[in-house]
This record gives sequence, structure tokens and C-alpha cells, in this order.
Amino acid sequence: MRRPASIAPPKGKLGVLTPGMGAVSTTFMAGVELVRRGQSVPVGSLTQLGTIRLGKRTENRVPKIKELVPLAKLDDLVFGGWDVFPDDASQAAAKAGVLDVQDLGKVQKFLKTIKPMKAAFDQNYVKKLQGSHVKKGKTKFDLAEELRQDIRDFKKKNKLDRLVMVWCASTEVFLKPEAVHQDLASFEKAMKANHPAIAPSMLYAWAAINEGVPFANGAPNLTVDIPALQNLARDRNVPIGGKDFKTGQTLMKTVLAPAFKARMLGLNGWFSTNILGNRDGEVLDDPGSFKTKEESKLGALEYILQPNLYPELYKTIHHKVRINYYPPRGDNKEGWDNIDIFGWLGYPMQIKVDFLCRDSILAAPIVLDLALFFDLAQRAGMRGIQEWLSFYFKSPMCAPELYPEHDLFIQLMKLKNTLRWMKGEELITHLGAEYYD
Ligand SMILES: NC(=O)c1ccc[n+]([C@@H]2O[C@H](COP(=O)([O-])OP(=O)(O)OC[C@H]3O[C@@H](n4cnc5c(N)ncnc54)[C@H](O)[C@@H]3O)[C@@H](O)[C@H]2O)c1
Repeated sequence: MRRPASIAPPKGKLGVLTPGMGAVSTTFMAGVELVRRGQSVPVGSLTQLGTIRLGKRTENRVPKIKELVPLAKLDDLVFGGWDVFPDDASQAAAKAGVLDVQDLGKVQKFLKTIKPMKAAFDQNYVKKLQGSHVKKGKTKFDLAEELRQDIRDFKKKNKLDRLVMVWCASTEVFLKPEAVHQDLASFEKAMKANHPAIAPSMLYAWAAINEGVPFANGAPNLTVDIPALQNLARDRNVPIGGKDFKTGQTLMKTVLAPAFKARMLGLNGWFSTNILGNRDGEVLDDPGSFKTKEESKLGALEYILQPNLYPELYKTIHHKVRINYYPPRGDNKEGWDNIDIFGWLGYPMQIKVDFLCRDSILAAPIVLDLALFFDLAQRAGMRGIQEWLSFYFKSPMCAPELYPEHDLFIQLMKLKNTLRWMKGEELITHLGAEYYD
């Protein structure tokens, strides 16, 4: 990829479209509105709070990221979305139960104005949901064309300059890449034939890319992780990426595992279990959707620990992940990890992590950062898979000949170096030999 010659300024308004207006999406919208009114702080958002060192350590140049690269301003964001339920964002946020009555009260009027468009939905892909607010198109191709029209209408109605789409809808059943996913002609033929390998999320992605709208996948669904849509994105100069927001347990995993490897400590097993009571938890109670999530959560350790390179330390790891739907907890998930490690001479040790987290509180700033960075990428002329945004994903997408990078700290370095590279700043290697000449 060539370095962008220039980055178009973020003039005008940026539409942020979320398929799915549930817990994550409405927490994101409410939060941005509270921040832009000066009633809250965007905790968890790298684009809003993060800084970036430039040049030598002696230069003391540490601007905010948003001062280095031209990001859209929060005031210029306009929200829209689709859902299988007709609830506006205020009702959906109240049902999700993430934010308290006080916070919701402050933005209730604003959230009421955000009404979902009818979803492209099929219960075969999300068994636990039954929704009435759905499109009636005969074929999957018709549905996707309706989504394209929705995007155009939304842009026109809100006088937007640009759009991005961030998938915040449910986790679909597990799908494997098939022949119909390999090229665009087969893919579109399959859409017209209502082929089962074409999931609703793929229709949104196809519509977005065709409308020149960057697409980020917040769920572990296959969606844009197929050659047909990746090639389409390259041909249309549209940035894409995914999959699955990296929020609670996997965030911790991709912090701890690199530490063990850095110190050459061994690992025998890692047992992760969760109790979760929101709608996402209910959807994941279906074995098909759980399988999609499980695959996404399992990948990280293998890639970080590289058992092929370190057989003495990581040859036989027992890695298990469980998610239990437990309604009393709502969005306030509890994730336990039992980690069996070993040290010098093979002596065993254990680490226990009990993370009482709030799922959507962790995910909302990720939606914001992805929307702003994907828009930046597009204005910088970057297209196809945006591997530099792996930092935000549990199962980062990358070029077919590469393995994904899961280590959070390498991901952050990659992200920041990409920003430096975009702006023609020196990349930071952390060598620092020049300070000791
Ligand atoms: N919160 C987190 O920490 C986190 C982390 C990683 C990934 N995710 C993923 O983000 C997604 C959203 O999570 P959530 O907690 O907001 O879930 P949620 O159930 O509260 O919201 C998802 C919404 O998507 C809607 N939906 C389902 N299929 C749709 C379709 N085809 N078109 C339009 N709308 C559709 C549902 O009706 C629901 O309202 C899930 O896939 C979840 O697995 C969440």
C-alpha cells in the first residue's frame, strides 16, 4: 500500500449507520451525545483521549491523536440504523438497561429522534430473535438493494457528506467460506437464488461497499471475511474490517498472554467462563451463534503463544470458553478466567481473573473509534482490509497469506505507526541508540 499523498479534510457531516440498534449501539449514541453536550468524558476512546509521540523522545512532541490526523468532529456525527424491532433509540436503550435513568433522561429527546429502518433479517441466522420490523423483499438481492436505497435516502435526508457503517447487530450462526463467497459473480448469483450461505450481515456489507461506505464488523460473523466482498471493497476503494469488538475477556487475554510469552512462562490451560444476561447473551445461548463467538474467542491464544515455535511452553494448552445466559446480570457481565501457568523447572502456578465488566460500556468507545478511523482511512484513499485497526477486534482480519496479530501492544504500535506513516512522520521503533552516542 502506498502512503497517502494527502488526506481529504473531514468537511460536512458524517453519518454513522449501525445495523442493530441494541445495547452497544444505543450506548454509543447516548454517550456521544452526552460528551458533545459537555456532560461526560469519552473514557475508553483512543481517538478522543489518546496521544501520540512524534519524533525523538527529546523533542517533546506529544499531540493528541485527533490533532495529528484530521478526524471528524463529534458534533458532525449523525446516527442512524436498522433493527428487527421498531423501538426508537430511547426505548431500545431503556430496554437494554445499560445506562441509568439519569443519563438516559438527559438524552431521551435526542434518542427518540433516532428510529430504526426496517431490517434485512432472517431468523435462520439468529435463532433466538423474532422481529416484526423487517423488509419483505423476495430475494436476498432485493433486500440488499433496499438497504442501498436506505443508505442513499438517509444521506440525502440528513445532508451528509460521508457515511460509515459499523455492524452492531446480533451474532449470526456459524458459517464457513464456500464456493459462492469466492468471487462477486457467484456471490450475487447466490443472493438472487436465496442461497443459505448468504447471511443478512453480508447483505448490509455488500450494500455499504456498493454505496462507497466503509464497513466495520463488530460481531464474529463471517460477513466481509470472504474474497467476494474483499475484492469488491478493493475495486470500489472502500475500507473494510473486523471481526468482533475486543472488549472484556479477550482484551484481558491479549494483555496477559503476551506477558507470559515475553517472560517465557509456560501455559497448560486457560478456562474462561462468563455469565451474561442481555439480549446478546440470549442470542449466544443458541449453539449456532455461540459457535461463531467461540471460534472468535479461541483464536487469540494460539496466535499469540505460537506453540510451533515454543513447544516446551505451549504445546498442549487446554483452552476452553463458556458463555452462560443468566438474565439477572443484564449487561453487567462477569467473566472468570482460571489460568494454569508454569515457571522455572516446570513448577505450576495459577492466576484467577474475575472481571466484573459492563459489556456495552466497553464496546461503545470502540464503535466511536472505528467510525472515525474508518472515515479517516477512506479520506486517505486506503481501501480493503484495514489491518492497522486490529487493535479493536477479537479476530482481526488480515491478508490471506498472513496470520492475524492479536497482541494488544503490537496492535497499538501498528495503529500509531500507521497514523505517523499517513502523516509522513518518522516511525517509532523504540531502538533509541542515538540517545547514547
Ligand atoms: N458488548 C460487547 O462487549 C461486545 C463485544 C464484542 C462483540 N459484540 C457484538 O456486538 C453485537 C451487538 O451487541 P449488543 O449487546 O448490542 O446486542 P443486542 O442484542 O442488544 O443488539 C443487537 C441488535 O441487533 C438486532 N438485529 C439482529 N439481527 C439484525 C439484522 N439482521 N438487522 C438489523 N438488526 C438486527 C437485534 O434485534 C438487536 O436489537 C453482538 O453481535 C455482539 O456479539 C459485543
